[in-house]
Amino acid sequence: MTRTNITIRKDPKFMKFGFFDDAAKEYCITTPFTPLPWINYLGNDGFYGLISNTAGGYCFYRDAKLRRIARYRYNDVPGDIGGRLYYIKDQDTVWSPAYRPAETELDSYECRHGMGYTTFNSSKNDVNAKLTFFVPLGSACELHKLEIVNNSSSAKELTVFSGIEWCLWNAVDDSQNYQRNLSIGELEVVGSTIYHKTEYRERRNHYAFFTVNAEVDGFDTDRDVFLGARRSWNNPVSVENGKSGNTVASGWYPIASHSIKVKLAPGEKKTYVFQLGYIEVPREEKWESKGVINKKPAIELINKYNTTEACEAAFDELKKYWNELLSIYHVESKDDKVNRMVNIWHQYQVMVTFNMSRSASYWETGIGRGMGFRDSCQDLLGFMHLIPERARDRIIDIASIQFENGSTYHQYQPLTKRGNADIGGGFNDDPLWLVACTAAYIRETGDTTILDHPTPFNNVEGSEKPLMEHLRRSINFTINNKGPHGLPLIGRADWNDCLNLNCFSEEPGESFQTFGPSEGPVAESVFIAGMFVKYGKEYADICDYVGLADEAKTIRAEVDKVKAATEEFGWDGEWFLRAYDAYGNKVGSNECEEGKIFIEPQGFCTMAGIGQEKGYGAKALDSIYKHLMNDYGIEILAPCYTTYHVELGEISSYPPGYKENGAIFTHNNPWCSVAATVIGDAEKAFDIYKRSCPAFLEDVSEIHRTEPYVYSQMIAGRAAVHYGEAKNSFLTGTAAWVVVDITQAILGVQPTLKGLSIKPCVTKDFGSYKVTRKFRGATYNISVIQDGSGKGLVVDGNAVEGNLIPDTGKKEYSVEFYI
Ligand code: BGC
Repeated sequence: MTRTNITIRKDPKFMKFGFFDDAAKEYCITTPFTPLPWINYLGNDGFYGLISNTAGGYCFYRDAKLRRIARYRYNDVPGDIGGRLYYIKDQDTVWSPAYRPAETELDSYECRHGMGYTTFNSSKNDVNAKLTFFVPLGSACELHKLEIVNNSSSAKELTVFSGIEWCLWNAVDDSQNYQRNLSIGELEVVGSTIYHKTEYRERRNHYAFFTVNAEVDGFDTDRDVFLGARRSWNNPVSVENGKSGNTVASGWYPIASHSIKVKLAPGEKKTYVFQLGYIEVPREEKWESKGVINKKPAIELINKYNTTEACEAAFDELKKYWNELLSIYHVESKDDKVNRMVNIWHQYQVMVTFNMSRSASYWETGIGRGMGFRDSCQDLLGFMHLIPERARDRIIDIASIQFENGSTYHQYQPLTKRGNADIGGGFNDDPLWLVACTAAYIRETGDTTILDHPTPFNNVEGSEKPLMEHLRRSINFTINNKGPHGLPLIGRADWNDCLNLNCFSEEPGESFQTFGPSEGPVAESVFIAGMFVKYGKEYADICDYVGLADEAKTIRAEVDKVKAATEEFGWDGEWFLRAYDAYGNKVGSNECEEGKIFIEPQGFCTMAGIGQEKGYGAKALDSIYKHLMNDYGIEILAPCYTTYHVELGEISSYPPGYKENGAIFTHNNPWCSVAATVIGDAEKAFDIYKRSCPAFLEDVSEIHRTEPYVYSQMIAGRAAVHYGEAKNSFLTGTAAWVVVDITQAILGVQPTLKGLSIKPCVTKDFGSYKVTRKFRGATYNISVIQDGSGKGLVVDGNAVEGNLIPDTGKKEYSVEFYI
C-alpha cells in the first residue's frame, strides 16, 4: 500500500480534491477525504475560528492559548476532531452535513472555503443541508446557519442535534490539569441558550454561550450522558435515540448540544441560526443575582443575529468587506493562476498570518509560541496595503517588546502583549525586521508620524521613546555586535532558528532555542549581513526622508563596511557562505562535506546588492539552480546533513530532506525570486515564483497533500522519504514575501517613500497586463504594455522620465508602462 492511498479512501483516482471557483473567491472541496484536513479561518479581529473541510477545529477569543472556547484534542485520531458538530437524524439514519462527526456516507458533499467563511452543502436520502459558518464583522461570535430542505415527495420528521465541546479557557491547563479541571465545569441553561461559565465564580469575567434562534426540544451539557458509555462524537447515544438528556453538567466534561424536531413537507425548507459567542463583563457587573451570570450583554449579542435576515445581512457585509480589501491590489493578466493567487489567496493568507502569526493552525497548536517577533514583522510586509491602521498598531506592539540595547524578545502572547520569557531573546536578526516593516509601512502610507510614537522598551511604563529610537537601536545592535570577520554575530540563531551555532546541546529534550549561551563572540551570520545591508539602506533612506542627513550618512558608511566584509569573507567563489561557526569554520561552503550551499544568503545578499558589480548575484542564482532546485521549488540547503552536528544544532537533527535540513522551506523562495528581479532576471524570478505557488501545484494535490490555495511552511526535498509532500500549511511568512515578490518585484507596482513606482520585471511570455492599485488615497489604473517600444512610463498621457509616478494630488491616475 502506498502512502497516498492510505489517505484517499474513497476515490483513488483523484489527484485533485476540488477546484478553484474564482468568481466566488472560493476553493470548492468535493470530498471529505482530502489527504489532510484542509482548513480555513473564520474571524477578522478578536474572535477567531479554525475550520476544516469536515467542520473540525476550534475557536478562541484573541489568544488561542489563554481564551480557548471550543476544545481540541492534540494527537488524537483521526486528527480532525472537535469543532462544530451537527447531526441530522432521519429515521434510522444519522448523518452530518460536514460528513463528520457522524461519518455516514453522503449522497452528495461539497465544502467551500471562502474569504472568512466556510460552507457545506450535502445531502442524504433526499434531504439537503447547507451549513454556513462565519464570524460577523465586529462581533465576538461565530454564526452557523443551517438550511434544511426536504427534496423527497413525502413529509419528513427529522431531529437536528448541535454540539460544541467547551475548553476550560486555558488550553494548556485544559489538557493537563485534570485533577482540578474535572471538578470545575459550570453552566447555565436558559431557553435555547447554554452558557459556559467555568471559573467565572472566581477570577474570570468572561463566559461563552451557544444558542439557536428556535425553541429547542432538548439540550445536553453533560458529555458523558450525551455520548453514552464507550461512545464517541461519531455515534452519541442521545442522537441515536433521537432524544436529549436535558442535562446540566457539574464538573467533568461540559458541552453544549441542542436538539430540534424538524417537520418538513415535500419541498419545504427551514433555516436555523446557531450562535457561539464570547462575552466579557465589567467586573462590577458580573452577576445578575447571586451565582447567576449577567446575561444582558449576551442577550444583546444574540438579538443582533437571531433572524435569518440578520444573519444573511452580516454575511453580505463580510463579503463586501473582503471585496473592498481585495480591490486595493488587483491584477488582470493572461495567467489565470497568477490572477487567482494575487487577487484572492495570497492576500487572504497574508491576512491570516497577520492575525495568527505562527500561533494557531492545525500544525501550530495555539498553546505554544504566540506571536513571533520576526514572524509578525515579516507578515506585515505583505499586509501593509490592506489595513495600514492595523499594521501601525502591530508595529508598536512588536516594538514594545524590544529591550533597551536594541535586542528583543523573540515572541509575545497576543492577549498580554508581554514578551515570552520562556524563550527570551538573542536571535540577532530580530531587531532588523522591525526596520523592515516600519520602512514598508512608511513607503505604503507616507505616514512618518509613526516614528514619533512613544513606545516602551520591554513594556516598562516610563521607558517610552519615539519609535525612531527603537529603529536606531535595532540598527546599532548589529553595528555593535560583529564578529572576527566584521560580519554580524548570529546569537542564538538568525532567521533559520534551527541553525544553532552557539548551542552545543548533547542531551535529548534540551531546547535548541534556549540552550547554550545566547551570545557567542565568534559565530557570524552572512544572512544577517545581507539583511543589514538591505535594511540599513532602508533606515538611511528614512533618515534622509525625515531630515536626518548626518545619521543617514553615518549609517551608509556602516552599511558599506558590512558590504565590504561580506564581499571579502562571505563569498565562497560560486555562492555566498552561510555563516562562520563558533570555531570560525565556514558553514555553507564548497569546502564543507555536507551543507555546502544554503539558500538564505543567496536571496538576501543578492537582494541587498552585495557584490553586484562583481556579478555575485547572478552566480549565486545560477548556483541555486544547479544545487538546490527541484520540481517544487528551491531547497534550503544541499547536501543534507546525514548525521547530527553538535556545532550546528537543530538543523542537523531533522532527517535529510525535511524542514531546515534540505526541504523547500517555502518562506525563502520568494527572497530568491525578488533577488532575481534585482539583477533583472525575469525568467528566473517567475520560474521560482511558479514552482512552489499552490495553484500551480493543485494538480499534484495527492503528492503535496496540503491545501492547494495556501502555502505550507515546507515541502519535503529530494532527499526525503516522501519527496514533494508538504507540511504545516497556512502560517508561514511565505505569504507576505510572495505578495512582495509578485505584486511589487515582478509585476512592478512598488510603493516608495516618494510615491508609487512602476518597475516591472516580467518575461515576454507573460504578456501585457493591468493592475489596479489604491495607494495613499488615490486609485492608479496601470497598464503594463509589452509592445517592444521600451517607451517606459506614461502618466495621464504624458511621458515621464524614470519610474516614479508624480503625485499631483489627483484621486485617479491612468498609467501606462511600455516595455
Ligand atoms: C519560524 C520562523 C523561522 C523559520 C525558519 C519558522 O517556523 O516561525 O521564525 O524563521 O521557521 O527556521
